[in-house]
Amino acid sequence: MTNKFVSFVILLAFVLGLAVTPAWSSEDEAIANELTTLLKASRAVLVQNKPLIKNPQKAGIGVDKFLSITYSNYEKATGKKFKKGSGNIGKAQDQLIQAIKLVVEGVVSGKDTALDPQGRFLPAIFARKTATQFGQVTRGQMTLKLTTRDEYLVNVSNKADAWEKSVIDGKFLKQGWKKGQSFSQMTQHKGKKAFRLISPEYFKKGCMGCHGGENGAKIHASKMPGLQGQLGGAISVSIYK
Ligand code: HEC
Repeated sequence: MTNKFVSFVILLAFVLGLAVTPAWSSEDEAIANELTTLLKASRAVLVQNKPLIKNPQKAGIGVDKFLSITYSNYEKATGKKFKKGSGNIGKAQDQLIQAIKLVVEGVVSGKDTALDPQGRFLPAIFARKTATQFGQVTRGQMTLKLTTRDEYLVNVSNKADAWEKSVIDGKFLKQGWKKGQSFSQMTQHKGKKAFRLISPEYFKKGCMGCHGGENGAKIHASKMPGLQGQLGGAISVSIYK
């Protein structure tokens, strides 16, 4: 092969590569991944601080401390310091942080008492409140949701929609799906064009006290106990166009 021919092939590959770039931008993907990482890093603050779950008003963790632990979790998860991104990425980060602040402030001050029947600020309740607040902050332009497969559903308001269910059942639960691998697609959602990304989560030891055995059978609508290592949830992001 001549050098000219090689250059031509490289050029052709480049042009074709651009032509088959998906309709959604890598910016949407970056935003959705960033929101997922931040939601996980903030939810983990509760997992790490049991008093905040049991008695949020008396745990001595205010908004600033909650956020500083969130950023250190983010750093542990990603290997890089939390830094505000530019443009739309930074804007999305800000909007989620604003939602987190409002939720934590509401609960630790005692203004928001809508917790579980035992008054606990459970990680999943934090996630649901934060997702709802985030949708309000973005005026519905972006949404976040913690959902799961039907067998392990506790709260019906977290039920997977048709698209989420098709990805959970048709991909995440299929043999050969790479553990932890997320799935994204440009699709129609609520009558609008939307970029959607969903990432799977798995039951760990710390989840089993509530989701495993008899306790799991009690809280899951299906009465099926969860098993460690199994797919036990998913974080779903939608960015409307
Ligand atoms: C202290 C008990 C407890 C622990 C520990 C716990 N959960 Fe839950 N989980 C619940 C309850 C109660 C709900 C329903 C919360 C609500 O009202 O939104 C829930 C909801 C969820 C949801 C949202 C979907 C649904 O079923 O409503 C997911 C996903 C989930 N849990 C996954 C996990 C995972 C993964 C872990 C471990 C990392 C975990 N949970 C640890 C009690 C617990």
